[in-house]
Amino acid sequence: MYICICNALKDKELAAASGGARTVADVFRRCGCRPQCGKCLPDVAQMIEDARALENDRLPLAAE
Ligand code: FES
Repeated sequence: MYICICNALKDKELAAASGGARTVADVFRRCGCRPQCGKCLPDVAQMIEDARALENDRLPLAAE
């Protein structure tokens, strides 16, 4: 499914680029483009948060 119409970026491509990204700009840089209209920015920001949450779930706890 297309998330960013301006750059023809699909959800899977953006999700892959979101892993380890700190900002929305990081994600677009990794995809080799820049935001245009900005309508997709909240969705991309959510993907970064989702990727962070997933990474945090995978981190071992200090007490383990
Ligand atoms: S839809 Fe992504 S910049 Fe326009």
